[in-house]
Amino acid sequence: MRPRTIAIDGPAGAGKSTIGALVAERLGYLFLDTGAMYRAVALAALDRGVDPDAAPALEKLAQEIRITIGPPTVRDGRAYTVLLDGKDVTWEIRDARIDRVVSQVARVPGVREAMLEQQRGLAARGRVVMVGRDIGTVVLPDAERKIFLTASAAERARRREEELAARGEQRPRQELLHEILRRDQLDSERPVAPLRAADDAIVVETDGQSVGQALDRVLSVIARSSQR
Ligand code: DC
Repeated sequence: MRPRTIAIDGPAGAGKSTIGALVAERLGYLFLDTGAMYRAVALAALDRGVDPDAAPALEKLAQEIRITIGPPTVRDGRAYTVLLDGKDVTWEIRDARIDRVVSQVARVPGVREAMLEQQRGLAARGRVVMVGRDIGTVVLPDAERKIFLTASAAERARRREEELAARGEQRPRQELLHEILRRDQLDSERPVAPLRAADDAIVVETDGQSVGQALDRVLSVIARSSQR
């Protein structure tokens, strides 16, 4: 029996989006990268001059904007297309200026509530792979498969450096490592829905593994008939 919902959580740069998209493609499931939703809220805040520390204004903004995530509309290497009020922001939400404020935005309980509603709505249809920080713990505590994908901070910084280089951006690895550690700290120490593995999640470590190897391990966890 194929699971209805698959939750993949883990820290920044663990490969969740890459692996999640491949798992969804392999199984013919919908793929939802919830990080993209928080990034879209952060972008809307920057565009409209909303202070990333002003919780009530952010909450209102999160309720007003329309975020749509769907299959790729352009063949430029994207795994999905993100629309913010109808505008394609798929690449813009990956900018360094978003990286810098997104954890602050994602800390706001009202922002999380607005996203949670949409995330659960999509999962209710079933056959979904949902990727984030709190999917197995908060968003879909009854997900039939839960995976916590992780790698050392050094490995994640190395991958980030490669990913940026592929897009023509050169950044010192030390600086990237510092940013990753800061985001890990903000994401794990926030009071609402912090980053942590669900008690019933299977932890998959990907240090030193290729995408293909990590994908095989995740698929084998999913194939186990009963995780819980
Ligand atoms: O996975 P990512 O780097 O695109 O996530 C962007 C930010 O959003 C990250 O700082 C953590 C936050 N996030 C979250 O709080 N909950 C989720 N389910 C997904 C992402």
